[in-house]
Amino acid sequence: MTAETTLHGDVAVITLNNPPVNGLGHATRVGITDGLALAAADPNVKAIVITGAGKAFSGGADIREFGTAKALAEPNLLSVILAVEQSPKPVVAAIHSVVMGGGLELALGCHYRVVAPGCNVALPEVKLGLIPGAGGTQRLPRVVGVETGLNMIVSGEPVKSELLASLPGQKLFDEVVGSPETLLQDALAFARKIADVRPLPLVRNLKAAHPQGDAYFQFARNMVKGMAKNLPAPLKCVDAVEAATKKKFDEGMAFEREIFTNLMFTPESRALRHLFMAERAASKIPDVPDDTPKREIKSVGIIGAGTMGGGIAMNFLNAGLPVKMLEMKQEALDRGVATIRKNYEAQVKKGKLKQDKYDQRMALLSTTLSYDDLKDVDIVIEAVFEELGVKEKVFKELDRVCKPGAILASNTSTLDVNLIANFTKRPQDVVGTHFFSPANVMKLLEVVRGAATAKDVLATIMALAKKIKKTAVVSGVCDGFIGNRMIEQYSRQAGFLLEEGCTPAQVDKAVEKFGFAMGPFRMGDLAGNDIGWAIRKRRYVEKPDLKYSKTADLLCEMGRYGQKTGAGWYDYQAGKRDAIPSKAVTDMIEQHRKDRGITPRQVSDDEIVQRLVYSLVNEAAHILQEGIASKAGDIDMVYITGYGFPFWRGGPMLYADEVGLFNVVQAMKRFALNPLDDAAFWQPAPLLAKLAAEGKTFN
Ligand SMILES: NC(=O)c1ccc[n+]([C@@H]2O[C@H](COP(=O)([O-])OP(=O)(O)OC[C@H]3O[C@@H](n4cnc5c(N)ncnc54)[C@H](O)[C@@H]3O)[C@@H](O)[C@H]2O)c1
Repeated sequence: MTAETTLHGDVAVITLNNPPVNGLGHATRVGITDGLALAAADPNVKAIVITGAGKAFSGGADIREFGTAKALAEPNLLSVILAVEQSPKPVVAAIHSVVMGGGLELALGCHYRVVAPGCNVALPEVKLGLIPGAGGTQRLPRVVGVETGLNMIVSGEPVKSELLASLPGQKLFDEVVGSPETLLQDALAFARKIADVRPLPLVRNLKAAHPQGDAYFQFARNMVKGMAKNLPAPLKCVDAVEAATKKKFDEGMAFEREIFTNLMFTPESRALRHLFMAERAASKIPDVPDDTPKREIKSVGIIGAGTMGGGIAMNFLNAGLPVKMLEMKQEALDRGVATIRKNYEAQVKKGKLKQDKYDQRMALLSTTLSYDDLKDVDIVIEAVFEELGVKEKVFKELDRVCKPGAILASNTSTLDVNLIANFTKRPQDVVGTHFFSPANVMKLLEVVRGAATAKDVLATIMALAKKIKKTAVVSGVCDGFIGNRMIEQYSRQAGFLLEEGCTPAQVDKAVEKFGFAMGPFRMGDLAGNDIGWAIRKRRYVEKPDLKYSKTADLLCEMGRYGQKTGAGWYDYQAGKRDAIPSKAVTDMIEQHRKDRGITPRQVSDDEIVQRLVYSLVNEAAHILQEGIASKAGDIDMVYITGYGFPFWRGGPMLYADEVGLFNVVQAMKRFALNPLDDAAFWQPAPLLAKLAAEGKTFN
């Protein structure tokens, strides 16, 4: 039982007790209805209090029941709330800390609500592509007003109880008590005070109205439409709240239910629910249990104060950890520190960072030219040039000076972490921490697990990632790890598309319409086309048979490295980032087609998107099969948080599942017949072929 009923004289107290946040799982719901029945049958009980044990009143649905039959089993949440409403004895919700989603809907079904200060109040269902489905859209506007109610429902963001309690005319809270500690005593006193008042007040009997009615909802729709381009749920929130102002209560409830059920089956909601679960699952490593001991991290050393080193340092400074940066020359240190300062000052100017916070952060930063100054740090992250010889020197020095147990991490994006680990006599302490640029902004952190990396090192890094607010995903050692290994195939396809008849702008537009933040050519211009060039030069030696379009090399030979040289796949005007289609590039591509004897053809946007996205999917299937990634959801997290894949499609793996793996394989077989493409690559990865044949999915 995850809700217990106890008697406090003439008041029955039902305490939700389902850690961590008293999710309203089936056993908890049964506990509530049992408690209500007990209280109704006991002639000595005059009133009922519902409260939550521990850290919350209730955080809403129990996510462990998502997608299972238990989530809908009776008594479902609607039935529980109905039972509360219809209780012949008054029910008082005693709320503290967190009241969200179904938890708030339950409280709104109670006859009264008392709250302890500092409580976070929210209906966050929209973040899962849904609307509240147990009366939230009908009851909240009745107690906090239509505008506040709609803002909360459409944003899903928590609002502090103090703010809501201060709204003129609010009926959400009947009493604000002194503190969370006195909540139960105060709620009992309140319950005794109102025990004999009849009729029992019901939120359903209140009116939700807006003085500007239709005009307000029109305005709200325009606002929401602009903000939530690809998501259906936010507009449906407006519809549901409007219904609260226009329909009878029970009709409004039925309307809400219908919208909720329909949204449940949209690909967008499936995608958001998938990512919600995938994000939580990403921090779990199959053979590293949650209770694995962690090493204490109280100080950080960073080698290299360049683009990545500076950004990485900011993450730790933001989290209140002291950072010592090491370089070979004072000028490099000065430059690195100046860049960090400039970034923070920009935030101060925009009002995003307070001056005292900025001062505190800078005070945590120190610099050195000597490895001996790193002898006490708990972790060192290396971000020097991407050359194995340079990494070797650095790791040998670290091995010499660092204290036993210090974690030695490399930010390498392409080198073999096992080789790096073996430059030291403590490979168990070595791990890859692959940050993405700009490292102070991008959410993704690929944690590269070497053959020898100790479990407590991994557990420590996962916890540290959380502290610096990164989404950490574990990758095994391979060239490019998860993300860049996949993007290489995507870039190869982009090259073939140019040869066959596309322009860079056509390819970019097609994938941007699909929802990518940026197409492959704009992305190349931003990151620097010379990076891919360097990798290809290596590939020409390692894998001489691998097919590439030469267009990207020809572009680099023209010196068009991208925005940094003022020209890449596009032309750029000084100081601006607008990508202008380039005659020189079109001429280069056309000449290249002539040289190869290729007659260009019209390629449809559908084909462009399919070839680019399925190239990610096929490579990802190899990655999964090889155990480089432990689950499909991890790959989706990498692409959503690091590569601008449209989040409302849930990542490449969920997208493939949605299309149907059978259909994905059929398309690959078609692409393999194209003589200008790479037939060998389009052989479906064995895992993909198997899942497709069995009618299964990645997730
Ligand atoms: N730039 C990116 O987008 C990106 C993204 C992910 C990972 N990485 C990886 O991060 C690492 C650093 O890349 P970056 O872009 O910051 O390079 P960068 O050239 O901007 O900075 C490297 C810094 O390291 C310093 N350095 C070089 N050798 C050193 C040594 N022996 N001791 C101390 N300092 C030394 C240099 O003076 C320079 O300031 C590389 O391994 C790179 O592959 C880069």
